[in-house]
Amino acid sequence: MTTKKQETQNKMWGGRFEAAPSDIMQQINASIDVDHRLWRQDIAGSKAHCAMLVSQGIISPEDGQAITQGLDLVANEIDEGRFEFKVELEDIHMNIEGRLRELIGDVAGKLHTARSRNDQVATDFKLWVREACQDACDKITSLQNTIEDLVEKYDDHIMPGFTHLQVAQPVTLNIHLDAYWNMLERDRTRFVDCHNRLNQSPLGACALSGTGFNTDREMTAHMLGFDGAMDNTMDAVSARDFAVEFLFCSAQCGLNLSRLSEEIILWATPQFGFMTLSDDWSTGSSIMPQKKNPDAAELVRAKTGRLNGNLLQLMTVMKALPLAYNKDMQEDKASVFESFDTLSLCLEAMTGMLESATFHKEPMRAAAESGYATATEIADWLVRNLDMPFRDAHHVTGRIVKMAEEKNCQLDELDLSDMQAVEERITDDIYEYLNCEKAIESRLPKS
Ligand code: ARG
Repeated sequence: MTTKKQETQNKMWGGRFEAAPSDIMQQINASIDVDHRLWRQDIAGSKAHCAMLVSQGIISPEDGQAITQGLDLVANEIDEGRFEFKVELEDIHMNIEGRLRELIGDVAGKLHTARSRNDQVATDFKLWVREACQDACDKITSLQNTIEDLVEKYDDHIMPGFTHLQVAQPVTLNIHLDAYWNMLERDRTRFVDCHNRLNQSPLGACALSGTGFNTDREMTAHMLGFDGAMDNTMDAVSARDFAVEFLFCSAQCGLNLSRLSEEIILWATPQFGFMTLSDDWSTGSSIMPQKKNPDAAELVRAKTGRLNGNLLQLMTVMKALPLAYNKDMQEDKASVFESFDTLSLCLEAMTGMLESATFHKEPMRAAAESGYATATEIADWLVRNLDMPFRDAHHVTGRIVKMAEEKNCQLDELDLSDMQAVEERITDDIYEYLNCEKAIESRLPKS
């Protein structure tokens, strides 16, 4: 990136100005350090626009060809790292057009016929977010595949299910992991929805009220893979809900990843001992040799802060903005780019961490058998066999649990006579239900 003080008026909009912008004005006005990431979309949008101008007889085929070839040259320069981004040319749109003019001369100026940077930037940004949605979906799918592999590999691991982080009822690792698969499926389809909703083209809306030239907005829309052109030109240039929605989708997915991270952090402690992270997904402590820290999980948990912050940032920018375009909206891209990068990294880290993690059957099973996880089974037995109202059964079971606590034993270690001292009609077959497998099986959804 180069920065030169503009000595003369801006060639693209400076006709009515006598002085060049001050240094700080140039600095606050420029967005090239952020929006250079839109270069591919900007070239694609310009090529579609140029083809439409030719097809509608607005510019000549020769001019159209010169512009298209010139745009390809610019694209190559950027792709190969030979392009000099200039802060004095403000943004990606004017950087590309400026270079086009250097390469093909004044005919480059015809490209902006029947177009404004307002519809241009909205189009570029939508194209970028559309691809980002697709990419996020692919990364979520990879993580879901990893979870499916774990579900297959650890299909006989019993573990405690928690409420309030207290042992509640026995479940399986499968069921627990499958919950995350389902959460991720909603995250994925949320990105699909975002993609589908945004897929209407703003191009051709021009500054805000359309153009007097005989343009074909449907043509450019379809060339760029949109489903059609946006109905209302003022809406087309001022809508950023697609970006806010993308930020929400990212934040929500990050939030789900943070919950999984939290569980990994807990499960990998020696106290839980449910799982071990591989060495390449852990770090050590420089002072305590015994430590193996789950840094990646902690960082995925923490990065939710950025994802949430970015969502709030753009919602705050957009709040109370009058129609149509306002320069405030230039502040829409940094957070979208950052959320995309952050979420991509988090999804990849989570996939890598889980792929290489090992789960431990015995500690999980021991935890499921402790904490009176099958107490609900006693209550249900009393209801089924003695026709006891559930509230009463709950109370009776509570007394049995208390007795086990006093004797410092598990429920299935109590003698039948102990249980009968609380409720004399309890019979031997109740023990069968105190087994974790049986408890889990009885609770599987009935079809
Ligand atoms: N860099 C600007 C942005 O990202 C492009 C649109 C500028 N439009 C204008 N009327 N100044 O919003």
